[in-house]
Amino acid sequence: MFTNMQNGTAEDWAVIGAAHQEHFSKTPAHLMDMLRSLEQVSVGFACDQLQHSLMTGTLARRDGGSDEEVAIALLHDVGKAVNIPNHGAIGAELMRPYVSEDAYHAIYNHQHFQGKYYYEFAGANPNMRDNYKDETWYDLAVKLVDRWDAPAFDPEFEVDPLESFEPLLQTLFAQPARIL
Ligand SMILES: [Fe+2]
Repeated sequence: MFTNMQNGTAEDWAVIGAAHQEHFSKTPAHLMDMLRSLEQVSVGFACDQLQHSLMTGTLARRDGGSDEEVAIALLHDVGKAVNIPNHGAIGAELMRPYVSEDAYHAIYNHQHFQGKYYYEFAGANPNMRDNYKDETWYDLAVKLVDRWDAPAFDPEFEVDPLESFEPLLQTLFAQPARIL
């Protein structure tokens, strides 16, 4: 195996490629761990961010959302496991190889759609979502935020357990649709 990539051979890359394939299968478990860690993220809301994520996913599921919609509802705030100011972009990039482009953009920009309900308190424009009215993903972002995300801050709501979403994550995130 090379120690300088400039000297790599086809045999080296066959070994590396096989190891990568095996590692790709760990993504669902990584996402589960990131979601679990959100239990430690309590940032002033009535519930912690795991409860919020589970409630968002549960609402999407009970609303008849597609598998992808349920997954992005559950995972829309997963970026908060890393940092909050950039969480939309982090989550969107984590999911990009596995979801549609519309889902990617809805996750990336969901905070501006949620801003309808709080940007005025932060001195920002609450109608930021209007900038995206002509985008193909606008309706998906509205549904994600207005039907599932915004109402999902109830600590008493009986959410579906995290484990109940694992088969869905195993299916959707088993293999990236593209790696290059
Ligand atoms: Fe959220």
